[in-house]
Amino acid sequence: MSVGLGLFQKSLCLHQWMARKAGMKVSCAPDWTSPIATMIYDRECPPATALYGEWDYCRCRSLELIREQIGDLPGSTAEIGVWRGDFARLINYCFPDRKLFLYDTYAGYDERDLSYDENAGNIDASFSENWAHAKQEVPDLLMEEIRQKMPHPEQCIFRPGYFPETITAEEEKEPFVFISLDVNLYQPTYAGLEFFYPRLQEGGAIFLHDYHTDLHGIARAVQEAEKRFGSFKKFPLPDCCGTLVILK
Ligand SMILES: C[S@@+](CC[C@H](N)C(=O)[O-])C[C@H]1O[C@@H](n2cnc3c(N)ncnc32)[C@H](O)[C@@H]1O
Repeated sequence: MSVGLGLFQKSLCLHQWMARKAGMKVSCAPDWTSPIATMIYDRECPPATALYGEWDYCRCRSLELIREQIGDLPGSTAEIGVWRGDFARLINYCFPDRKLFLYDTYAGYDERDLSYDENAGNIDASFSENWAHAKQEVPDLLMEEIRQKMPHPEQCIFRPGYFPETITAEEEKEPFVFISLDVNLYQPTYAGLEFFYPRLQEGGAIFLHDYHTDLHGIARAVQEAEKRFGSFKKFPLPDCCGTLVILK
């Protein structure tokens, strides 16, 4: 078991123990990706579980709750690393009146990023092997599949290709209130922080997925970005892959 996963499981157990002590009903499915909880706040703010079921409850529910904090703050949303659009769908649901910029190659990881992380010791060869199937995707078909699952497809702006080369003048001028950064490797993670952190509104948030895992390029990208922008306000989530929330 990786150190990241071990820490995640300890943190999840503590989280559940505290919830039980507070009289909350908590159950955990045997699959480590599926903590399911019924919390007191669910009564006040019913979850959109129809959209995510038992998949990564903690990350999905945190997005729903942070949406309440963001309120009417003006700005757009984005996801860098969309894959099949499951988390993007929830962003689109939570922010029906805002643009959602969707960056992905829509055909898997780029060789430039993979070889950088392999050479830096951030990943081992199994990472590329596990994702090799994504190269079979046909980007236009995948984007259409994603568009069809969106509750507000008119807000979705697809940016297919290699990030950050796909950034256009339109988003350079945008303020942002929520960004999901989920690309797993050093170079696109650093590029995502470099572009979006300065455009994040005060009161907005970046969800940096997989931070507490053995994908070491992600934490290294944060360290480098902090050298440039100063220390981030950071809050870790005990979700399935240890998301780091970066606040402004
Ligand atoms: C882990 S998946 C994203 C999962 C998705 N956020 C979800 O929650 O369902 C990572 C995605 O990042 C994309 N990606 C990685 N590096 C990229 C880059 N430099 N440019 C564009 N897309 C990239 C891959 O194609 C892949 O679809």
